[in-house]
Amino acid sequence: MSKQKDIRILAYESSCDETSTAVIKNGRKIESLIVATQIKSHQRFGGVVPEVASRHHIEVISQITKEALAQANASWNDIDAIAVTYGPGLVGALLIGVSAAKAASMATGIPLIGVDHIMGHIMAAQLTDEIEYPALALQVSGGHTEIVLLKDPTHFEIVGDTRDDAAGEAYDKIGRVLGVQYPAGKTIDDWAHQGQDTFNFPRAMMEDTDYDFSFSGLKSAFINTCHHADQIHQELNKYDLAASFQAAVVDVLAHKTIRAIKEYQPKTFIMGGGVAANHGLRDRMSQEIAVLSENMRPKVILPDLKLCGDNAAMIGAAAYNLYNEGKFADMTLNADPSLELPYAKSMLE
Ligand code: KG4
Ligand code: ZN
Repeated sequence: MSKQKDIRILAYESSCDETSTAVIKNGRKIESLIVATQIKSHQRFGGVVPEVASRHHIEVISQITKEALAQANASWNDIDAIAVTYGPGLVGALLIGVSAAKAASMATGIPLIGVDHIMGHIMAAQLTDEIEYPALALQVSGGHTEIVLLKDPTHFEIVGDTRDDAAGEAYDKIGRVLGVQYPAGKTIDDWAHQGQDTFNFPRAMMEDTDYDFSFSGLKSAFINTCHHADQIHQELNKYDLAASFQAAVVDVLAHKTIRAIKEYQPKTFIMGGGVAANHGLRDRMSQEIAVLSENMRPKVILPDLKLCGDNAAMIGAAAYNLYNEGKFADMTLNADPSLELPYAKSMLE
């Protein structure tokens, strides 16, 4: 039997504040991954400035395309498809990646694949281990907090969503109150491990029967606690504040996700997105899944920490699944800043 040809995908990601390129073999193996972060340029503004982001993307994208090919020891002739994030994200930032990928596809004749950023985050798991379907993903990032059901590698359905702030956004906002630089998630996570849950912040929507989340009440409770202490010149312990905030976030995420696992009984559980790097959340999900009865216990895939934040490797992984189904884009591909996972609303029918 002849060996199947390897499929190499060159992928681009530029939806927010990282410009990234990667070469991925067969949707599973990272042959190269370059991430050019702009965080330092945005820190003094306390968040991402869209215009600044676009300028940085354009400055580095040609160079990191060459670097990704060189690091993978590949030339354009070795590439079977060019993949790019086309949404959701900042429109100007997305457009840089989309234009670069379209230009490369046009110049070389290599087919183009448009990838949803959220599908990419979820498919980072495929770079760590094999996903068995149906799978269930907890997708937690700076812009999204969703429970997503995966019927197969390209058919997804959102079963739970945040009604207001995303989990990462809440971390960044309360981080600001504590004087932590953007993005605050990692520092708050570190502090949380040095403190105790003494403040008992609210856990919103815990007992609701749906799978939705809300973090704005928690954020307000946190900010009010800090402001009130300020007014009466009382100093609060920042480690306890961080631990209390994190306990509230993790309680809600874990509670709802475990309930969704019990209902949908997936073969694999995946975490994706920047907040999936959170140690408190990773430990809690692993512990709660480990004590489920055997017939309900999915395989758990927690992506490598470096694959939780924005990167092009996850886009190459997701693109491979679209490649296998012949889902190619053409030169009309455009950035779509509010792209929603459009796949199979009716998959449960
Ligand atoms: O996925 P990502 O890189 O970008 C988006 O698509 O949004 O996620 C970035 C978010 C930021 O809000 C950041 O504070 C948060 O992920 N984050 C964390 C941790 N590491 C990054 N949040 C909690 N704990 C962490 N360890
Ligand atoms: Zn992201």
